[in-house]
Amino acid sequence: MEIKDKVVLITGASRGIGRELVRAFLEAGASRVYAGARRPGDKTDDARIVPIELDVSSSESIQKAQKRAADTQILVNNAGVLEFGNLLEAPRDSFRRNLEVNLWGNLDMDRAFVPVLESNGGGGIVNILTLLSLVSAPGMSAYNASKAAAWSVALSLRATLSGRGIEVFNVFPGAVDTDMLAGVEMPKTSASAVANSIVRGVASGAEDIFPDPMSESVYATWKQDHKAVEKQFASM
Ligand SMILES: NC(=O)c1ccc[n+]([C@@H]2O[C@H](COP(=O)([O-])OP(=O)(O)OC[C@H]3O[C@@H](n4cnc5c(N)ncnc54)[C@H](OP(=O)(O)O)[C@@H]3O)[C@@H](O)[C@H]2O)c1
Repeated sequence: MEIKDKVVLITGASRGIGRELVRAFLEAGASRVYAGARRPGDKTDDARIVPIELDVSSSESIQKAQKRAADTQILVNNAGVLEFGNLLEAPRDSFRRNLEVNLWGNLDMDRAFVPVLESNGGGGIVNILTLLSLVSAPGMSAYNASKAAAWSVALSLRATLSGRGIEVFNVFPGAVDTDMLAGVEMPKTSASAVANSIVRGVASGAEDIFPDPMSESVYATWKQDHKAVEKQFASM
């Protein structure tokens, strides 16, 4: 989809992939980017960046953002949390916290902003999911569950919006070098490279985006033999 002159709202833009997406959308020609953050700064070095307060786990905060960013044309559901823990031992509250942001946060943002996008003539919704939406790693059970459910919501969203002028893009990164995976030793792609790849994917109209070498390679195998990928991730 065309990004030039579009108004974009990105959740979780304070750091990591979200912060790089702000830059990448501007470089692709967006006219304004609302940088949603729980604790936004009040200054930016670029007048096209508009910091707004946005906690996706708070309906009050979402309502305020909906009014503040009423000219949004592309919504990027990027905010996310990851808590480690295996299925039998992770506290139930850990599941609740992961679902709160990764599932309900996306769903509530979609419900609030579909009418906004429609009133602005249509647009796009970009969901930052993960390879762990497709396959589970046992040490991240709450995150897996939340992101698999978020993928399901994203697919329902795409079906629901079919023919209504809003494109839905689902993004499945592999390991990215941000705070989220700090302390996990494995090959990771930089957040800036991943953000560039996501924006290129959206611009090219790719519905499903695998934005780094790990995600491309795992997806290629998954398409051929998802049981092999299941076994590989189970041993992580
Ligand atoms: N890193 C990876 O390897 C990887 C791989 C696949 C997918 N992803 C996905 O990519 C997205 C971005 O992750 P990241 O790697 O950039 O992680 P990150 O560096 O930990 O950043 C997470 C972002 O989400 C925000 N956030 C958390 N809870 C929020 C809430 N309730 N409301 C609004 N914002 C909230 C954080 O804001 P604060 O600064 O206020 O905490 C921060 O801006 C996530 O959806 C994640 O699941 C990451």
